[in-house]
Amino acid sequence: MRVFTLVLALLTIVGEIEGQVTKDSFGKTADGTPVDIYTLKSGPIEARILTYGGIIQSLKIPDKSGKSADVVLGFDSIDGYAGVKPNPAYFGALIGRYGNRIGGGKFALGGHTWHTPVNEGVNTLHGGTQGFDKRVWKAREIPHGVELTLVSPDGDQGFPGTLTAVVRYTLAGKELKIDYSATTDKDTVVNLTNHSYFNLAGQGKGDILQNQVKINASRYTPVDEHLIPTGELAPVEGTPFDFRKPTAVGARINDDHEQLKRAKGYDHNWVLEGGRGTLREAAEVYEPSSGRVLTVLTDQPGVQFYTGNFLDGTITGKEGKVYGHRTALCLETQHFPDSPNHPAFPSTELKPGETYHTVTVFRFSAR
Ligand code: GLA
Repeated sequence: MRVFTLVLALLTIVGEIEGQVTKDSFGKTADGTPVDIYTLKSGPIEARILTYGGIIQSLKIPDKSGKSADVVLGFDSIDGYAGVKPNPAYFGALIGRYGNRIGGGKFALGGHTWHTPVNEGVNTLHGGTQGFDKRVWKAREIPHGVELTLVSPDGDQGFPGTLTAVVRYTLAGKELKIDYSATTDKDTVVNLTNHSYFNLAGQGKGDILQNQVKINASRYTPVDEHLIPTGELAPVEGTPFDFRKPTAVGARINDDHEQLKRAKGYDHNWVLEGGRGTLREAAEVYEPSSGRVLTVLTDQPGVQFYTGNFLDGTITGKEGKVYGHRTALCLETQHFPDSPNHPAFPSTELKPGETYHTVTVFRFSAR
């Protein structure tokens, strides 16, 4: 018996060091498609990923005293994600084919105008009415993680070309890595991201206004009244958009600034410093009460910093927590919004024979 207990203990330790992956059922969508949840473990860190929408359903990380908490918003069961009002705020989801907005729901490519579903005012938001966040992805276990695959047919949500997207979530050390790749059989556009809502104090534990945020960007892309970039890359210097030094989210969020009024807070794309295509530090969030720190690294040209301005207490999430105004923040690594309509922005075009590939890392620590 003793030997058995010892072997079990050793296996648990090795499992935690090596990174454990387990798979369980998470129920079924309305049309009866089974949904699984993969649990990834690395030491005290645990991430749970759904095959539905590639959603990060929970993310448990320790605070400065080692106490663990789930730091992302979401739902306890499949109903919240795939029920009558499926995940209206995109909690934790993989977003595609095009993260953020396409103005007027159209863009020109290859001498043709392509129309995508208008699902927010006059825009296409987050890939259309049936974006990648609402699909059940094929999944397989890989070392330290799970690989998700989605084949989006030619013409899906108005986008040209069959797009095969492969996203790998891996958890090792204190890092959750998201590796995205995609190929196409016709010229198309692509911009994938993850839409996790972080509250480093613990999901449902108040607002994020005291969080200290740092964003490595000296410019951002101001928006028009429809939240579409005007095309300008404006300096953050001397504005509430300057997060080059760690600053509390709430310090200037209610300033009398046209851009903040338009978006009801921060909901903008920052132009990241450093070579595009190189994995580098994009942003850092420090939550003073728990000491938890999230560092976001990416090779993408931009990051959408969104302060949960549209959360209004109408969504009840995990453990019955009511998600009020600004109770989480998102750092969506991405190409700039509406790039297909801005030839001067870094291109989001993908051609047959090419591979779209991008990496984002969420690194956790506490101090
Ligand atoms: C992004 C957008 C926001 C909002 C959220 C989802 O962050 O920029 O305007 O749509 O997604 O609610």
